[in-house]
Amino acid sequence: MASGCGVRTGSVKNSRNGGARPRPSPFRIAARRPRNWAVRSKVQNPPEMAEPPTAYSDVLARIARAAQAAGRAPGDVTLVAVSKTQPWEAVQPVLAAGQRVFGENRVQEAQSRWESDRGEIVLHLIGPLQTNKAADAVAFFDVIETLDREKLARVLADEVQKQGRKPRLYVQVNTGEEPQKAGVIPAEADGFIAACRGAYGLEPEGLMCIPPASEPAGPHFALLGKIAARNGLSKLSMGMSGDFETAIAFGATSVRVGSAVFGART
Ligand SMILES: Cc1ncc(COP(=O)(O)O)c(C=O)c1O
Repeated sequence: MASGCGVRTGSVKNSRNGGARPRPSPFRIAARRPRNWAVRSKVQNPPEMAEPPTAYSDVLARIARAAQAAGRAPGDVTLVAVSKTQPWEAVQPVLAAGQRVFGENRVQEAQSRWESDRGEIVLHLIGPLQTNKAADAVAFFDVIETLDREKLARVLADEVQKQGRKPRLYVQVNTGEEPQKAGVIPAEADGFIAACRGAYGLEPEGLMCIPPASEPAGPHFALLGKIAARNGLSKLSMGMSGDFETAIAFGATSVRVGSAVFGART
């Protein structure tokens, strides 16, 4: 257990705890008393030894089975637990069971519940990013999955320079070319990735997509895989609660799963 896994318990806007005093988090205690931790851990269950919630265990088992069925190692697929808008009461047991990678939709909401200094917890921004929030996103997130336009690429590149902090970047592709959805359209993906690399000096490492809800997801995952392969990108963020096993069959390296882990969003 790394010390300083910072979470802002009780400060979550939508916490069912409401205005009540925040309950102390074992993570906070560990961070404050690092020297005591080894001793304490002998008499208390360390947080990652907590009994995992059934839904979380089920998702991990399904990921492992899907990876195996695709001839891949379970460790090749990262679960990004989408904690966006979930009450802390739902997130905390999953965190305590050892989950360390979380997905958030909004910069401010993420800042209100997670610490900047959060130890081994990895935070992915999976929602649309406005340029006026880009500085905060670079400062706060470990992975930004929603790079989708040149103006944003320029601002992110400036912030990376300014802050000396380099979150990993994914380009979002609107594989279904849906007008209401963010992402570059497939025909413009190669050019956009080249511009990110050439004009802005960014090094995107993968692609992300959200297929249309009304269509089978497989062809969209296949298309994303092809665009990644021809552009030399190794990471594929695809698959949500309803289709993550399909995504793994098509090569997802991370799946973003919310409701299957935490329950329906409120
Ligand atoms: C971009 C993105 N990925 C993944 C998810 C998780 O979806 P689900 O709850 O269906 O797993 C969401 C949730 O809204 C999302 O916005």
